[in-house]
Parts: sequence; structure tokens; C-alpha cells
Amino acid sequence: MSDRPRLTVIGTGYLGATHAVCMAELGFDVLGVDVVEQKVAALQSGQVPFFEPGLPELLRKNLDTGRLSFTTSFEEAGAFGDVHFLCVGTPQKKGEMAADMTYVDAAFRSLVPHLRDGALVVGKSTVPAGTAERLAAELERTATARDVELAWNPEFLREGFAVEDTLTPDRLVFGVRSERAEALLRAAFQPVLDLPTPVVVTDFATAQLVKVAANAFLATKISFINAMAEVCEVTGGDVKKLSEALSHDTRIGGRFLHAGLGFGGGCLPKDIRAFMARAGELGVDQALSFLREVDAINLRRRARMVDLARELIGGNFDGKRIGVLGAAFKPNSDDIRDSPALDVAATVQQQGGAVTVYDPQAMENARRVHPELSYADNAVEAARGADVVLHLTEWAEFRQMDPAHLESVVAVKNIVDGRNALDPQLWRDHGWTYRALGRP
Ligand code: UGA
Repeated sequence: MSDRPRLTVIGTGYLGATHAVCMAELGFDVLGVDVVEQKVAALQSGQVPFFEPGLPELLRKNLDTGRLSFTTSFEEAGAFGDVHFLCVGTPQKKGEMAADMTYVDAAFRSLVPHLRDGALVVGKSTVPAGTAERLAAELERTATARDVELAWNPEFLREGFAVEDTLTPDRLVFGVRSERAEALLRAAFQPVLDLPTPVVVTDFATAQLVKVAANAFLATKISFINAMAEVCEVTGGDVKKLSEALSHDTRIGGRFLHAGLGFGGGCLPKDIRAFMARAGELGVDQALSFLREVDAINLRRRARMVDLARELIGGNFDGKRIGVLGAAFKPNSDDIRDSPALDVAATVQQQGGAVTVYDPQAMENARRVHPELSYADNAVEAARGADVVLHLTEWAEFRQMDPAHLESVVAVKNIVDGRNALDPQLWRDHGWTYRALGRP
């Protein structure tokens, strides 16, 4: 092996595709692996199968250098790699709180028989505590190659900023059991470590926990401010001002303190649930029982949004038209997993409203999962004839929208700002009834 280990990245979703491309950008030879042939074919031809700013350009650039390629073959991956990053998903199990480990286990078992002597398998997926220990034991039992090892290196990238977060992370966490594993990981991240980037070297248990603890903390921060929004609603307070005032206390800080429709996506909601489920198995459910409240506060915001919209149009959705701006779980993403916006849209439709949705990037995904909703090609068309417009994902094009653009097309000038991201004064000055969560 030269100074630069050869890397494989197994799983080419939001995490894996970004990791593969960015590691090639950092100068490594990288082979991306996925069992879905269409994904591999798309990536190999320079197409990113999801929306992530900056990633398509970087993909094409690195395919051109010859440092990056993709395959469906684990045999090829085993022969190629010194370090193998496991980046497959761990979604919530259907009907349960726990994480579904099927993809991690399948990827691991497909790879192990093909490993070369001395290879390092690095888990990046978000997993229940104890997974790394279990996989390490399995590796020891089943690998035929010599001196193969496991390490855990959780990933903290945010969708929408995935490239930036991967190339210049806040920190790296290396869960290792040997100096050799640490040295290999250091070699695999040398350009990032040189920035410099802080690295925390730890045991398996801590490395796995850092990830779920981080997401649990972020979810708690969001639900804290959303709980304050509930209190503002009955006291006449303004949660936006409250949050601003809190943010000047550097011990609290303003990030992840935006009140609104709450958190969604493929990570925060399922990670806090899986964390609770695992704590229950380990007999420490009490330690995390507050996360049940965090989850409940979060879901109550969606219900409150529906209530606000209904109140505004006279107490009943029947026969009313509702224009919905936003479907993705957050701006700069086409991801609709556990999207608060789509959840609200679908509930309003179920309650008798005629809902038309527009999102700059998530239309295709939204249509697939919610074919019962209507879709429009732009914000103005979504708002046409609406009795109320719901602003549910704060894309820049919505935040910067001129109320005058919508007022000639809506039936009634009603807007509910689910993300506290519009200027209430501006909309009210244009004669709109503006309502928001946690604000008068
Ligand atoms: C989250 C974490 O932020 C990443 O660090 C982590 O790596 C990732 O999960 C993961 O586990 O893979 P992500 O799901 O991309 O990243 O989204 P966030 O930016 O965390 O936003 C999550 C949700 O919280 C969104 O629905 C957003 O609208 C909402 N949010 C965020 C608020 O409601 N208020 C805020 O102040 C911030």
C-alpha cells in the first residue's frame, strides 16, 4: 500500500455518494459500490440521483480524473480497497422505533468474503450502540483474509451542505481497537486532518454514541424552542424575538433554535426513536425518556399548523383550496423522508381540502409518495384560487417572494408561515392575513 490507501464506499445514497466523490476530490482512488444497478449506472455517467448542491460538478470532475468509479461488484470492491467505508442506510423499522439493520448487515456480509489481507472496514452508518462490537466479532469469525479489522467513524454531514461538511468537517471521530486501525484511518483522512481538523480517537461504544447523541441534542434544541412557541401562543409572546434574545447568550447560541414546523428528514426523527429503542433494550430507557417528549413536541407542531390553517378559513377545509409552498423536509434538498411539509399537506387533503403543492426540487419524490395531492409547476400556480397559502419549507425563492406576485391569483389573501421565515410586516402591508407558529 502507498501512503494513500485505496478506498471503497459501500452504499451510494446521500451519505455514500457524497463521501465517495469528496474522497476522490481529496486525491484518493475511490470505488463506489451499490447493489442498485441504476444508481451505479447514473453515477458512472456523471448523474447524481438526488439533489445536492455542488455534488454533480464534483462527481463529473472526479470521474474525468479517473480516480473515481462505481460498481455493483463486491468482489471488485474487496480486491480494490485497503479501507472500506460502510455508508448504507439504517431507516426506522416499519411499525417499530428501532433501526432496520438489514442493509448494514447485508453490505457487511457481501463484502467480508472478498476482503484482502490487512483491510480495514469502517462503519459510517448511524447504528444502535453495540453494532460495531457485533460486526467486529463477526469479522473475526468469518473473514478468510488475515489482519482485517473494523473501525467506526460516524458521519455528521447535513443534506444541502454535504460537500462542504465532508471536505471541511467540524471534527472527525475514530472509534478504533488498535493503533494500526487508527493509523489507517489517519491515512484515509490525511488531507482533512491537515486543515487542521480536530480528531477524537475513542472506543467503539463512544464513537457510535457520538452520532446519536449529536442528533438527539439537535432535535432537543429544536423541540425546546418549539415548546416555547407553544407557550408564546397562549401568552401573546413572539418566539422569533425570544429565540433571537436567547441566541445572544453564547452558551445557548442561535443555531438550531428556529421555531416552526419542526424537524423531519431521514435522520433526526428516526435517530431519536432508534436511540430510545436501544436504551430500552439496554435497561436505561429512563435516561432517554425526555426524547419521547422531544418527538411529541415536534409532531404537535404539524397538528398545530393544520389547526391554524383551518381556523383561518372558517373552521372547515371542505371545498377549500390550499396552496402549499414546499415539500422537502428542508430547503436545498429533494428529500421528503418524514417531511413536515408533506405531512401537513396530506393531512389537510385528508380533512377535505384541495391541496396543490409546489417545491423547487422535491416534486418527483413527493408525487411518488403522495399521488393524491395536486402539483403545480411554480409557486404562483400552486397559490391559484387558494383560500389559504401554507409556507412549509423555507426555500430562498419563497423567502424572497413578493406578496404582490401571489395576490392577483389567490381567492383570499391568507398565508400561514410554517417556518417563521417571511416578513410579517411586508405581507400585512400588502393586505394579507399573516399567521405563524409561536407569534401573534
Ligand atoms: C442532520 C444533522 O444536522 C447532521 O449533522 C447529521 O449528520 C444528519 O442529520 C445525519 O444524521 O445524517 P439533516 O437531516 O441533513 O442533518 O438536516 P438538518 O439540517 O439537521 O435539519 C433537520 C430538520 O430540522 C429539518 O427538517 C429542518 O427544517 C429542521 N430544523 C433545523 C428546524 O426546524 N429548526 C432549526 O433551527 C434547524
